[in-house]
Amino acid sequence: MIATVRKAHRLQGEVRVPGDKSISHRALILGSIADGESHFRGLSTGADVKSTASCMRAVGVDIDDAAVRGVGMRGLRAAESPLDCGNSGTTMRLLAGLLSAQPFASELRGDESLSTRPMDRVVTPLREMGADAQWPPLIVGGRLPLRGIEYRPAVPSAQVKSAVLLAGLFAEGATAVLEPVATRNHTELMLIAMGGEVTVGGGRVEVRSVNGLAPIDMDVPGDLSSASFWLVASGLVRGSRVRIPNVSINPTRSALIDLLRVSGMTIDVDAARSVNGEPVADLVVGYAPELRPVSVDGTMAAEMIDELPVLAVAASQIAGTSRITGARELRVKESDRIAAMADGLSAMGADITAVDDGWVVKGPRRLEGARVRSHRDHRIAMALAVAGLLADGTTEIEDAECVEISYPGFFDQLESLC
Ligand code: S3P
Repeated sequence: MIATVRKAHRLQGEVRVPGDKSISHRALILGSIADGESHFRGLSTGADVKSTASCMRAVGVDIDDAAVRGVGMRGLRAAESPLDCGNSGTTMRLLAGLLSAQPFASELRGDESLSTRPMDRVVTPLREMGADAQWPPLIVGGRLPLRGIEYRPAVPSAQVKSAVLLAGLFAEGATAVLEPVATRNHTELMLIAMGGEVTVGGGRVEVRSVNGLAPIDMDVPGDLSSASFWLVASGLVRGSRVRIPNVSINPTRSALIDLLRVSGMTIDVDAARSVNGEPVADLVVGYAPELRPVSVDGTMAAEMIDELPVLAVAASQIAGTSRITGARELRVKESDRIAAMADGLSAMGADITAVDDGWVVKGPRRLEGARVRSHRDHRIAMALAVAGLLADGTTEIEDAECVEISYPGFFDQLESLC
């Protein structure tokens, strides 16, 4: 599908974003091994989370729209065929951790993009724990017991941390992950809410095995990574004002809000509250006439890794030179996001140079509508759509159906806000 986006004259209204994708994956996975039925309202409707649900069903868990009938810590059973993780790295890496600790072997497969993404980063620590784990293809499990380890991932990664912690729930002794940069902590928060034995502090997260986890009931907050497209679009399109209710503002996810504020945007955070340990609020963002260039280095890049493509769009409209660096991980996401954004934005007239670990962007440049490639990567499609709202004329985005991965209805909402 080719999506057509026209220059916006202003964005106005309220927009509800899908349930947080990271929390939704964890809800389905941890709910599956709880003792009894968990209820989750507002789970992400994206294809990635559907991949996790279908994998959990394949290993014997009954899941319907909102209820996950947990089978307990020892209740999973071998799937009849390889598990299909689709496009979802989170599904593949988190399930590698969980399934490495089961008495049976599982094979995890993915689509063309996922099949080329690095899985050695989970295989290495799982093997250190005594698990059978190999890649490629990714096959884990069937050798027990596992033993706890202390692990320091080579790159900051919540997926690797979570894989190790999930395996640690079944291991002898304590399992700890050391992280100099705090990555998203939804696994830890949900485990705590379910009665897990978790200790967090000083850049260290430790879990111990438990006999059982309690089921939970949760309203999954909206996804700040999805909201980031509206934050940037509203901040840049003259006269805009958009309200985004019920969004996760977990501090391990909200670095983009802080950075946009430093750059000069006004983002109001209203009615802050907590849901099962997860901070949630309503966001209101308006047009900001004068923005300062942004500077992102390694630590910040890790904290806002999924939001960097749309930040590059913002940088193209800010007077001065913005530097977004320390983000080499973008090269191994659903696409090579450094190359994909440099190609797309250059085609639209931006002054953007790809460097090894990010971009140097000089602005402001007037953008012109163009035909651009999403590289079948949902975040690239949506970031280029935001660029399309700022560009003269019409922008056409190829393979735009990939937004279904995290944000079904994105283009309809874009129309309704304009
Ligand atoms: C995620 C972690 C991040 C992020 C991804 C979701 C998660 O990946 O990019 O979209 O839910 O744990 P890494 O762990 O590879 O940084």
